[in-house]
This record gives sequence, structure tokens and C-alpha cells, in this order.
Amino acid sequence: MTTFIPGEPWSTGVARAANGSVTIAGVGVRALATEHGTPAYVLDEADLRARARGYRRAFETAFAEIGAGVDVYYAGKAFLSVAVARWVHEEGLRVDTATGGELAVALRAGIPGEHLGLHGNNKSNAEIARALDAGVGRIIVDSLVEIDRVANAASTERPAPVMVRVTTGVHAGGHEYISTAHEDQKFGLSIAGDGDSPAMQGLLAVLARPELRLLGIHSHIGSQILDPSGFEVAAHAVLTLRAQLAERTGVLVDEVDLGGGYGIAYLPGEVALDPDRIAKDIASSVQASATDLGTPLPRFSIEPGRAIVGPAGLTLYTVGTVKPVRLEDGRTRTYVSVDGGMSDNIRPALYGAQYHAEVVGRSAAAQTVLARVVGKHCESGDIVVHDVQLPADVRAGDLLAVAATGAYGRSMASNYNHVPRPAVIAVADGTSRVLVRRETEDDLLALDLG
Ligand code: LLP
Repeated sequence: MTTFIPGEPWSTGVARAANGSVTIAGVGVRALATEHGTPAYVLDEADLRARARGYRRAFETAFAEIGAGVDVYYAGKAFLSVAVARWVHEEGLRVDTATGGELAVALRAGIPGEHLGLHGNNKSNAEIARALDAGVGRIIVDSLVEIDRVANAASTERPAPVMVRVTTGVHAGGHEYISTAHEDQKFGLSIAGDGDSPAMQGLLAVLARPELRLLGIHSHIGSQILDPSGFEVAAHAVLTLRAQLAERTGVLVDEVDLGGGYGIAYLPGEVALDPDRIAKDIASSVQASATDLGTPLPRFSIEPGRAIVGPAGLTLYTVGTVKPVRLEDGRTRTYVSVDGGMSDNIRPALYGAQYHAEVVGRSAAAQTVLARVVGKHCESGDIVVHDVQLPADVRAGDLLAVAATGAYGRSMASNYNHVPRPAVIAVADGTSRVLVRRETEDDLLALDLG
């Protein structure tokens, strides 16, 4: 007998009904599949809102204790739709956008411009103009070229509010972080160099342009971080740079953004970063740094994406074929093909990301077998879940759910093999509704001018 166990990595609204079938926020998976089809991304609204609120409260509380303010920006790159932008706004978050497209969604949702940030290492003139028109609260500039580009688009009467993105040499993700002086990647301006680092040059360049208003310094160190020490090392480096700028120019910038990257659980037994703990750790660490440096604390901001939307989402698939494959070591692996694949979740193929899957539409009274969940695309790397125990009687027509696909699933989806992208369905209080409708072949053909 295999038993579906709710809890991480599933969203908090996931439960198992008496008949063995699984429900999300009170909606049965069979009903979801019948009404909306599969594959489908299912978002648990209450879970997402609770995570947004949880991050905001955790950071507000911890930073209030050290006498500093903090804003939480939801990183829309993880997943953005009009409804999700509204939910996080209602929960008191701001929205971080990385392109004109994300900005357009946030604006369509009615988020006030001053609650929006625009990122990107190569913003176009059109994106910059749109951000300025919308009165965004901050544009995070990434290079000296871009500093001029934004300044040229702004005016001395309405200076553009900017933050300078710097790289501290800290790269985090997974379980460890590394700190190196020099960077070999495209983002930000490095703080490495005595007094005349690219980061310092960027800050001075902003101060030299009256069309720009220097809000502060931005640092993002990586994603899916489970070890909090990287944040603390990076925060210290940024606060040091801030103090150096003040010493040199007399300007003590008001804001420091520490980026996103808070890790989540993807597999049973994994433990997500706890927002209350990480907020307290970062707050006490920045307080110690500021005391060391003899500077008052700035206002802080953070940009979680995955930690808000990742665990709130799951993907529902229908099993199409089941095939036992004999392995060299004599074991058998059961290949379970579902009706989606690398077009709706590229993360396993791109990063070797691990996921967890369960048969969710019925009680599964069989022993388990070693299984691999694969998609319907024309390549062998089209893997959804590398290794998972599934009921030995898994069969065509079964509904399969993959946990924690809310972040970087739909937002990185493609039309590989001309597979239409799945719908995004929200569930709350026993009802479901479509947030983003499923693509159709007509949608795909509409782009093809023959
Ligand atoms: N802020 C900045 C400036 C970022 O570049 C990112 C992510 C975030 C915030 C949000 O990070 P989060 O809290 O979601 O980890 N596609 C990859 C993740 C790429 C993240 C890029 N930047 C993945 O699927 O794992």
C-alpha cells in the first residue's frame, strides 16, 4: 500500500481524501483534470498568499527589532500573471520585474509604479522609457553603459530613481557558497579593486548625472540557497561599499537590496529556509556590520521569487504509457510517460533539478517500483522526475502530480515540438479558476505567416 503523505514539498492545501484521491484547497484532482485538462499547473492561492505574508512579516519583524525598515519585492521572473501580481500586492509586497514583458503584466495588474522595480542587464530604450513613464520606484542599473542610457532617457526635473547592482564575489545556491574576488559572469559591477572598483565607478557615475537619483546598492547572490551565511557575507560587503562611498563623497545611500534566492523543499525530507530564522540572522548580521562600520542602517529590501510561488504550485499530468526497461545492473526501471515534459518544466534537463511525483487520482494499493517520469518530447533527456517510487500498478489514465513546480515552470516553458503551453489554474476554497488559459494549436499557428 503506498500512502500519499501531505506536507512539504506539497503546498499546504494538498490533502488526501478518504477514497485515496488527492485534493488541493478542497478541489479534487480528478475534477481539476476533467474541467481543465492536463497537463495543468495548479496554484494554491492561500498557500501562495501565506508565503508572501510570511516573508513580509518575518522581515518586517526582524528588521524592526534593529530599527530598520524593509520592503519585500516579489521576483516576478519565478512566475507572473495579473492575478498573482494582485495577490502579492494585496499581501503588502512590491513587484520586481526583469523585462518590459514582466513590467507590462505588473502594470496590467494595477500595481502602482512606485511599488515596482525594473531589473535586467540589457534594458532596451523602450523598456527604460516605459519604466520611467510608469513612474517605477527603482531601476536597477547593471553597467556604466546603462547608467548613461537611463540618464539620457530621464530629466533633471524628473530624475530616475536608480540602484546600482554590484557583485560581491559571493555566489550561493544549493548547500554551499563560494566567495571569490573576481567575477566571470554578466551581472552587476564588481566590488573588487582598491577604491576604484567597477562598483565604485558605477556609483560615482550615477552621482555625476543630475538626471539620476541614487537610491542605493543592490546585490543578488544566487538562487535556491539553503545556507544563510552567503547573505551575511554579501550584506557586509555591500554595507562596506556604502560606507566607502560616504567617506569619499559624503553621500550615504538610503537603501540596500539583498536580492532573492531563498531555497525551498523539492523532495520529501528536504527543509526549506525558514523565513523567520533567516530574517533574524540577516538582521543581526547587518546590525553588527553597521556598528563595525560606524554607519547608520539603511532601509533594506529583498526579492524572493521561488520561495513565494514554488511550493504553492504543482503540475498535474495524465499518464499515457508505461514501459519497463531492464537496467545493466539487472534492476528494472519503469518509464512512465506523461502528456507534458521538458516544454512545461525545463529544470530537470537544464539543471539536473530533482522533483517528486505521486499518483494522485486514486488510492494506490500496490507495492512501489523504481520509476522515471518522462515527457512526450523527441529527446531522451526529456525527463520530468529522474527517480521516484511509484505504485507498481501505475497505468495509462492515472493522474500524476509533480510537487513544487510553481517557480520557473510556466515562466520558463517553451513550445518545443509545437506543444502548446499548459494552463495555470488557481484553486481556493473548494473552487478552481483559470489564471492563464491553455495555449491551442491555433495560438501557435497564428504566429506562422506561411
Ligand atoms: N532578484 C534578482 C536580481 C534575481 O536575479 C533573481 C533570480 C531573484 C531576485 C529571485 O530569485 P529566487 O528567490 O526566485 O531564487 N531559472 C532558475 C533560477 C534563476 C534565478 C535568476 N534570478 C531556476 O529555475 O532555478
